[in-house]
Amino acid sequence: MKKILVIANWKCNHVTLKEAKKLFNSIVRGIKKIKGVEVVICPPFVYLQSLNPKPYTLNPKIGAQNCFWEEKGPFTGEISPKMLKNLGCEYVIVGHSERERYFGETDEMTNKKIKAAISAGLKPILCIGETEKELGSKKYELGKVKKYLKKQLENNLKGIPNSLFQIPDSLIVAYEPVWAVGTGKPCGISEAREANLFIKGIIKNVPILYGGSVNSENAAGYIKEAKFDGLLIGGASLNPKEFVEIVKNCSY
Ligand code: PGA
Repeated sequence: MKKILVIANWKCNHVTLKEAKKLFNSIVRGIKKIKGVEVVICPPFVYLQSLNPKPYTLNPKIGAQNCFWEEKGPFTGEISPKMLKNLGCEYVIVGHSERERYFGETDEMTNKKIKAAISAGLKPILCIGETEKELGSKKYELGKVKKYLKKQLENNLKGIPNSLFQIPDSLIVAYEPVWAVGTGKPCGISEAREANLFIKGIIKNVPILYGGSVNSENAAGYIKEAKFDGLLIGGASLNPKEFVEIVKNCSY
């Protein structure tokens, strides 16, 4: 049975370490007996070390929400992939739509981050997905979505040899329609399934996740019907009961 990957993206939440620890510990307790699902928690940078002191936990694993593309140097405010690796991070989210919306990040920047993350030994989770503007209307048109996803994959993966994807989990892709992120309007299961198959046709051997308004009621559909290899959860990952329920519903 294939392993399902469930990633929690806490974003900029929990203003004290105490709160972050409380949530982390509830999740650790809740997922203990669930089999077949690898859980990755991505807290704000400042909590990475405290939540996962050595020896590093196996489940959940720990990931970062972003990284820079240089290893070190005069880049005020940046965190390098190597620093994250040295803290026990295994995964890093790159290209999230909120990075584009609030910080003007481009596909070119994401491409550099992916390369840097891979060479530091991290597994990048690349987020792709269309905005409502790219759809051109509120109606979901698969043709337009496919064209956009193809372009995003080409830009983000430029210069990365296909042979690299033969190494298991060297890259993870999350299909996150931007209009579904944090809106409570998830993508329909059959539309998501088509997008999933389309991405899988372009990059083989790479786990494809779905993200965007996932909750405990719709989670199983993305795994069991739309055939995704996992989920990227934002809002619902802040509620331990709801998040554990999602993880449970993903296990076969
Ligand atoms: P959401 O966020 O689950 O709150 O829609 C998903 C994400 O931003 O990755």
